[in-house]
Amino acid sequence: MEDQNQEKETIRVLVKITRYTVYMAMLAVACIIILIVILLPGQQPAKTIMANPTAGDPAIKENAGAGSARRIPADAWKAPDENLIPNNKEGEAIKYGKELIAHTGLYFGPRGTIAQITNGMNCQNCHLEGGTRYLGNNYGSFIASYPKMSGRAGKIEPASERIVECFERSLAGKAPDTTGKEVKAILAYMKWIGKDVKKGQKVVGSATEKLAFLDHAADPVAGKGIYMAKCESCHGADGEGQLNADKKSYQYPPVWGKNSYNDGAGMYRLTNLAGFVKNNMPFGATYENTQLTDEEAWNVAAFIDSQPRPHKDQHLDWKDFSKKPIDFPFGPYADGFSEKQHKYGPFGPIRASHKKRYKNS
Ligand code: HEC
Ligand code: HEC
Repeated sequence: MEDQNQEKETIRVLVKITRYTVYMAMLAVACIIILIVILLPGQQPAKTIMANPTAGDPAIKENAGAGSARRIPADAWKAPDENLIPNNKEGEAIKYGKELIAHTGLYFGPRGTIAQITNGMNCQNCHLEGGTRYLGNNYGSFIASYPKMSGRAGKIEPASERIVECFERSLAGKAPDTTGKEVKAILAYMKWIGKDVKKGQKVVGSATEKLAFLDHAADPVAGKGIYMAKCESCHGADGEGQLNADKKSYQYPPVWGKNSYNDGAGMYRLTNLAGFVKNNMPFGATYENTQLTDEEAWNVAAFIDSQPRPHKDQHLDWKDFSKKPIDFPFGPYADGFSEKQHKYGPFGPIRASHKKRYKNS
């Protein structure tokens, strides 16, 4: 009797233990499933501003997709720490130069306090964060490469002249005196931020990204759709941007139209505009968290370039036609390609023909 009861008891205990084990196992599996669902990235279908990188995007491998998870390389150029600007006369000039780059419109715009000689845009509208941002059209390699032979000007050009060219083209205005206090201050700032770069040094992440060429022309019609969806809310239906409440400077700078940069500006060239937009727009996008595919960046750039803007007479630029950049949209050219192809591409055949023709281009 005793033995039998004990046996029954043991079986009962064993059954209980088994049941608990099964329950626990099921609970553990449920927990793991919940954890996987919570932690798995890439669940947001919409790519909004500042969205997380999209995992599993097949375009990541070729770095061509929007939201691709790229990392800024460790050897990328960084501007020196601003806190180390010296507390002396030179330091004053550097700080003043930075201020002029950030708020150019306040000093030189249509209501400028120093002179009224520009369209009201700031240098910083295109040279982001005072020209220090990774692939945000930064000034990292500028000062070390000047004075340099300018194909556009057809002569050896000092840094101060290159600086005022942006007043005449990007700010569609007049050049300030290169020996005046303001240009000297901008120069002091440029020297400061580029002080750790040596002549001839290869600077990682300077200026804008050179996107891979499309094998067809960029498409302004497709670009219009992107503009309306992702740019118009800030830059306006007519590309006119939006002034700040004080009407002295822009909250959102104009991307075309009478108050924007002229067609002699570097930003009017498709490779510069597409590379800039890819890594910096819509505002909030970064190299590590892009919002547009390469193709979208090329197309929206093509749309912007198909719209009207101030014209600059450039017939004295690029006197040696063979030095014209492949995306310089005004003939005559030394090659047989049309103005249209030089404006919108495809650029591959032009590059290949120049390589054959000029060897070192
Ligand atoms: C509309 C956009 C835009 C604005 C505004 C602008 N720039 Fe630029 N800037 C560019 C682009 C794009 C380039 C590259 C041009 C090229 O490849 O020809 C450039 C090139 C330069 C360079 C040469 C950099 C190098 O490494 O060779 C300097 C210097 C410069 N800009 C200074 C200025 C200053 C100073 C201002 C304000 C007075 C200014 N820029 C305003 C777009 C702009
Ligand atoms: C949330 C607002 C916003 C959106 C959306 C936006 N931008 Fe911008 N954009 C800015 C601001 C602000 C600047 C100036 C940045 C600065 O001064 O630091 C700028 C600057 C620019 C510039 C250089 C300056 C100029 O006026 O030409 C270009 C080109 C540009 N944006 C193109 C685009 C394109 C193309 C898109 C859409 C893909 C876009 N932006 C979407 C806010 C925006």
